[in-house]
Amino acid sequence: ASPRWEAAADVVVLGSGAAGLSAAVRLRERGLHVLVVTKGSIGDGNTRWAQGGIAAVVDAAPDADVADAGRGDSVAAHAADTETAGAGLCEPDAVAEVVAGGAGAVATLRRFGAVFDEAARGSDGARGLARTREGGHSALRVIHAGGDATGAEVQRALVATATGDDVPVLERHVAVDAVRTAAGRIAGVTVLDDRGCPGVVHAPALVLATGGLGQLYGATSNPEQATGDGVALALRAGAPVADLEFVQFHPTVLYAPGARGRRPLVTEAVRGEGAVLVDATGTRVMPGVHPLADLAPRDVVSAAVIRHLAGAPGGVDDHVFLDATGIDGFAARFPTVRAACETAGIDPVREPIPVAPAAHFACGGVVAGTDGRTPVPGLYAVGEVARTGLHGANRLASNSLLEGLVVGRRAADAVAEDLASCRPVHARSTQARTDIGTAAWPDPAPLECAPRDDVQRVMSRYAAIGRDADGLSVAGSVLDLAASRSVSGSGPDGAGGARERVEDAALTLVARALLSAASARTESRGCHVRTDFPERDDVSWLRSQTIRLSPSGQ
Ligand code: SIN
Repeated sequence: ASPRWEAAADVVVLGSGAAGLSAAVRLRERGLHVLVVTKGSIGDGNTRWAQGGIAAVVDAAPDADVADAGRGDSVAAHAADTETAGAGLCEPDAVAEVVAGGAGAVATLRRFGAVFDEAARGSDGARGLARTREGGHSALRVIHAGGDATGAEVQRALVATATGDDVPVLERHVAVDAVRTAAGRIAGVTVLDDRGCPGVVHAPALVLATGGLGQLYGATSNPEQATGDGVALALRAGAPVADLEFVQFHPTVLYAPGARGRRPLVTEAVRGEGAVLVDATGTRVMPGVHPLADLAPRDVVSAAVIRHLAGAPGGVDDHVFLDATGIDGFAARFPTVRAACETAGIDPVREPIPVAPAAHFACGGVVAGTDGRTPVPGLYAVGEVARTGLHGANRLASNSLLEGLVVGRRAADAVAEDLASCRPVHARSTQARTDIGTAAWPDPAPLECAPRDDVQRVMSRYAAIGRDADGLSVAGSVLDLAASRSVSGSGPDGAGGARERVEDAALTLVARALLSAASARTESRGCHVRTDFPERDDVSWLRSQTIRLSPSGQ
């Protein structure tokens, strides 16, 4: 379709979660004309669902190398925990840079008005931030807000700041593809507006902050927006992606038989405060599996739950329980979890909570530095959509808000630097939308697009926790068949239909890339568990896999 409207800015930010709004606010501070394009309203997205908190060392000497659980901590200990969780694939420089940014990120959020929970007064009468523990952390370092509503508070503060700074936002708009010059640098992005009408936003810089891809799976903690759009757009723009095979499954998502789509999280902080996983007979799941038992890194806990279920009568589609009945003051400390349980008719103070693993976080994504720069000039990636080397094969709990906040702001500085070096060629101000009737614009090639239900069904069955060569190959064949029956040019009309086609095409492309990475990695590491290659293989696989789309789109 030809574009019917156009707009212009120095920088377009796609997405309005912690990473996107951090970038947008900083871009504004740097005097650039930024335009945010987001699929929902500005407050939607994955950030607001984050419960546990922000992993950040806010009061320790940066070079201290000993963690003193419960009383002190260090940036070095946080980095070490991040690398242990990442199972050999973290990039130490990326880890050091992001983790060192924790104190600054929390201070910035407080400057923006975010309010974090405080600890009880110490003997000196002073109050500091309350900190809890989550899986894989050797110290109490997870800062939280509203008990278990940290993401909502972070999002509130960022939205208020962006709104106060008059950052322009196109809500309910869907980005389709990057526009590039003949030399390959970013020149803008094509966008469907809230009525499904195509347009183009001209800009020499494009920041992807589109979040994750949990909707590849039938059960996920992610909202409906998490359809891998940024990874697909980057692939089509010639950017490399890496570590896609490492999809993190959260061990404790509220279970309901046959439920699909977004499921409420039961934050890992509940285990941090003493809850334990048990099966239907009341037998604990984690002792003997890992020295940290219920607070082992998340990949270990999720895989253990699936193994436990595989040996039980209900099988892997069934659930275990999280017994939080021993936690004093549960309702006040975890109001979000309590409310979700209440809606499901469960009283977590008196009875164990039924839980099961569900897709939660993409550890891989668009290859980017900790300043968001990608190899495509003018293209930046921040937050969950990016693969910066922080997470390796398994993200440490509560490092995701941290990464979004730190890298979002750093990317804005990188954009400012890069645009300064190419001005005046690219200098432009934000130009409000103008209707342009029709203009010459090539129709995009029809995109391969399998129905979402088919994608979710095969990915859940063959590419979740516990994969093997046969299953991954079956999944590819089913996608071939499903995609051959429909291309993105067909399907329901109207704004909803147009958005659905963009999302389904993204899910299909990302599913293919993930299947290919998962088939190639013939070992088990972090979130990638192969039943036919159960061991970690440091001889052949102590490396990331990078995928690019060939010019033919394969
Ligand atoms: C949780 O609260 O358990 C989720 C935190 C995270 O994903 O880092």
